[in-house]
Amino acid sequence: MKQDIHLPHTNILPAIIKPLLTWYHGQSNDRQLPWRLAPTPYHTWLSEIMLQQTRASAVIPYYERFLAALPDIASLANCEDEQLMKLWQGLGYYSRARNLKKAAIVIQQQHHGELPQDFTALLALPGIGRYTASAIGAISWGKPWPAVDGNILRVTMRVLAADADIAAIRTKTTVEQALASYYPADSAAGDLNQAFMDLGASICLPHGAPHCPRCPLRQLCLAHDQGKEQLLPIKAAKKARRIEQRTVLLLVQNHAVALHQRPAKGLLAGLWEFPNLAGRLDQSAIKAWLEEHKLTATRLEALPPARHIFSHIEWQLTGWRIELGTETDGSIAETNSQLVWAARDELAERYSLPSAFHYYLPNIFC
Ligand code: ADE
Repeated sequence: MKQDIHLPHTNILPAIIKPLLTWYHGQSNDRQLPWRLAPTPYHTWLSEIMLQQTRASAVIPYYERFLAALPDIASLANCEDEQLMKLWQGLGYYSRARNLKKAAIVIQQQHHGELPQDFTALLALPGIGRYTASAIGAISWGKPWPAVDGNILRVTMRVLAADADIAAIRTKTTVEQALASYYPADSAAGDLNQAFMDLGASICLPHGAPHCPRCPLRQLCLAHDQGKEQLLPIKAAKKARRIEQRTVLLLVQNHAVALHQRPAKGLLAGLWEFPNLAGRLDQSAIKAWLEEHKLTATRLEALPPARHIFSHIEWQLTGWRIELGTETDGSIAETNSQLVWAARDELAERYSLPSAFHYYLPNIFC
């Protein structure tokens, strides 16, 4: 049987709340982020989903554009998938956007168009886990729910000088329970969650030396007291990413580039891509591929290698720009009926091309 996680010195926890809130409300510390100006449940939900894998400064323009296009849950539930993907293009992890829409539909059908205030009902919505449910509840309705992310874990483990592995789910739930008993049950709950996030982002840093002299918790922090702040928290190493080599083909004909729609399931489901092949194809392999597909290239150009990192896979990309003359022996439409041809403006406005392929955008229409 698995051991329970023991968190030492939890009697310190009630004492950290006031200094954290005071620090958060201090002049320059509560960052002026757009989702903090009008934290409706929808705004908080959307921002928390966008912020899951992306820095706040990068999220701001996406957040503003998304809300201008889809200002409420009803418009999200009814939007076209293409519009949704276009609004998300560049943020990555597209299943987050798909889950937002799925959840919006459930909210319309089962919750009278409003996010439910019950923790279990929130958790039942697609894409909402314990962290997101807690962030929404605390920020929008003052629920006493700690939103346990990497920041809150790091700050708590350092304050308590605790050496449990923060990658373990049981550590997260133990920290959540320990903090929940001391959380305020009013608007301070949302501020407290965001104070942990900001402290973790600006002072109690994950890499390099934390800025302890500026920390509002320095007098309470046991890791600081013991000189262990850089040794904590403990985090077990993740499994290494799988490396995949892919060769990207920029097939260009009549000022248009060929696009292919990815399968409806799996990585980057349903999004558009430049046709690409497994492996690292050299010039002779590309020529053989062209011959096999009865295509004549008027120009063949090797593009610089690129790399794209997903959470569990790394793509190592090789690119070829292949200009097909207007007169080709074989028709590309025959070669692959799934290809579409996009001119420059269509590529920008109509098709959602994931970031993994953006390295090659400058090489198309040149
Ligand atoms: N990261 C996740 N949620 C956040 C929030 N509400 N404010 C700033 N950064 C965040």
